[in-house]
Amino acid sequence: MIWIDLRDRYGYTQLALERSQTSAELLKKVEALGKEWVIQIHGKVIQREAPNPKLPTGEIEVQVQSLSHISRSKLPPFLIEDETDGGEELRMNYRYLDLRRPRLQQHLQLRHQVVQAFRSYLDKCNFLEIETPMLIRSTPEGARDFLVPSRLQKGSAYALPQSPQLLKQLLMVSGMDRYYQLARCFRDEDLRSDRQPEFTQLDAEMSFLRQEDILSLFEEATRHVFQVVKGISLPTFQRISYEDCCEKYGTDKPDLRMDLALHPFKELVTGRGFDLFDHAEGVLGMVIPGGATYTRKQIQKLEDLLSSKFEDKKRLIWVRFKEDGPRSSVDKFYPPEVLRSWGERVKLNTGDLLILAGGDPPQTRHMFSFLRQHILEEKYPLLSKDFAPLWVLDFPLFYESEGRLQSTHHPFTRPREEDIKTLSNPKRLKSQAYDLVINGIEIGGGSLRIHEHDVQREVLKILGFSAQEQKKHFGFFLRALEYGAPPHGGIALGIDRLCALLGGQRFIKDFIAFPKNTAGKDLSLESPDQIPQKTWETYGLHRPPSRSPHAKL
Ligand code: AMO
Repeated sequence: MIWIDLRDRYGYTQLALERSQTSAELLKKVEALGKEWVIQIHGKVIQREAPNPKLPTGEIEVQVQSLSHISRSKLPPFLIEDETDGGEELRMNYRYLDLRRPRLQQHLQLRHQVVQAFRSYLDKCNFLEIETPMLIRSTPEGARDFLVPSRLQKGSAYALPQSPQLLKQLLMVSGMDRYYQLARCFRDEDLRSDRQPEFTQLDAEMSFLRQEDILSLFEEATRHVFQVVKGISLPTFQRISYEDCCEKYGTDKPDLRMDLALHPFKELVTGRGFDLFDHAEGVLGMVIPGGATYTRKQIQKLEDLLSSKFEDKKRLIWVRFKEDGPRSSVDKFYPPEVLRSWGERVKLNTGDLLILAGGDPPQTRHMFSFLRQHILEEKYPLLSKDFAPLWVLDFPLFYESEGRLQSTHHPFTRPREEDIKTLSNPKRLKSQAYDLVINGIEIGGGSLRIHEHDVQREVLKILGFSAQEQKKHFGFFLRALEYGAPPHGGIALGIDRLCALLGGQRFIKDFIAFPKNTAGKDLSLESPDQIPQKTWETYGLHRPPSRSPHAKL
């Protein structure tokens, strides 16, 4: 017998030929075949004698009657199988071959399903899909712009949108009422596993609404997508304020698949002769449910992990709550009844572990946030079906950086209603902004917007824009706010991140057909490309000195 694996978008199908019953001509064609050749066959679909339950087509095979070669292939540089032998760079170079691998094909299929599910949901909710231009001017989302020099207006450049933020707000001024778009966004920032310079948002905006309307509509839309694409019913979306979130979890993007909350312990632990805690500015404790089984070695490993990540060596104090009472690494200072009172304070159960650490409070919080993420990642495999969605609310309107105030989200975010009139004491102002976090990943963010011309000007002033600068950078937008802008607000969800989450992967690039590598290059297209001097001149530009040939990209 001769068997051939035939692969197409829908999977593998086994072809079978019985040597003794095959004509010499057909045999010759079969024997000439190489990997990845494109062929056409005619044959009879029959039931397999030995079915393969692992394959969707494992019950059948095709008895080949004729075969023709349609397109030959060079030997591919790596195995086109899920478990390939090709390294990252090689596969990026030959992305079109990498995309033949079933796993990547499934990822793009999942992405298609996610996008279609959002479209149909929003269509039912009366949203209009409206495209906005790519060649625009800078929209401040906190990253650097990608620029496109203009040939007709020498010395000027378009900026590619970091998001369609101002355009969607202009659409609300136009009376479009409910808009959405699968918007391509461009941000020139450092790449990470969940960041690409070019990515896609499901971007939406609505007029005449309350914050609650957006939260519930997009909660339902996300629920719909999980249900349609993966058959998963998401639990109720939790809600927490930014302040409580940072206090309780040490981060504004907590993974809540396990609660692992932080508790203040300073007042409970001082004054018993334990120097480490007596001298610490703050002491925090974290409960690990069911963690009493952690061995000393496991706790030591956590300490080592912290030492490798943080400069200050951190000592972790542990208390195990077992059937026969609490035991701790500091029994000398804290007798069992004291440990028990700690347990009661944080509502600990038998079988739980309490970990304590002292130090500078923000740093200790940061360290615990890292620790809780590590514990969660150990507990949950990537493809786990557990999801913990969370709305983080009431972000501060501004934060201070390099001696001046910056917007936490962007300058068009609406302060709370009670603060709008005065905007006094800017550092304390809260916004009507929200982030959607699922399993520790920031999936989306949005806010109600400022629709009053004078309030918008005042906020820009607080951000340090003089009247002249306001006119220069935002004049077009401020003018629009003078022509009857409706109250409005919106949200943008990161489609690439959502797909990676649903597909159980860490890297969003696996869900993008042609992603960039960490140096911002698309290896399959060999972009960006060197531009000849003549082309620069067409734009009235000079070619910058080329980088050293030794610089590694
Ligand atoms: P924001 O900047 O929070 O909000 O972006 C919204 C969501 O887009 C995704 N995202 C990214 N995904 C991949 N690569 C990146 N480099 C990247 N940057 C952001 C994240 C993020 O939560 N205009 C506002 C939205 C609004 O106010 O309506 C905005 O862009 O999932």
